[in-house]
Amino acid sequence: MRRTVLIAAALVMAGAGTAWAAGQQLGQPLAPRSPEKVYASTCGYCHGTNVGPIILGRHLPAVTVVGMVREGRNAMPAFRPTEISNGELEALSRWVEASAANPQEKGQ
Ligand code: HEC
Repeated sequence: MRRTVLIAAALVMAGAGTAWAAGQQLGQPLAPRSPEKVYASTCGYCHGTNVGPIILGRHLPAVTVVGMVREGRNAMPAFRPTEISNGELEALSRWVEASAANPQEKGQ
């Protein structure tokens, strides 16, 4: 009886490990990143550094942000769902729309 429980527990743990490994292999983050994190690591590379236009504090509609991120325009690259998931983009676009201007950013 005790042995059966142990084997069952080992199987459950092995299954969880496989799912975790598969998620890792596909390069998908296990938990969605916050809008602040995505902006800082991806968008802030250009926006606010004189490369792209300032997008914070302009109340750009979320739908515009989603379109730009998925399709790109001129020097603005498109990002695939493997880079920014749909859930992350939804949260990011709402965050950008509602954001206040950041006086430390450079650009116009
Ligand atoms: C490699 C630099 C670069 C990165 C990284 C980048 N952008 Fe851009 N983005 C640009 C440039 C350049 C433009 C202006 C494109 C044009 O209209 O010619 C732009 C335009 C935009 C616009 C339209 C602004 C307007 O005034 O109409 C939005 C919205 C936007 N980007 C959102 C984002 C978001 C959100 C991210 C992060 C996921 C991001 N961008 C990452 C360079 C970048």
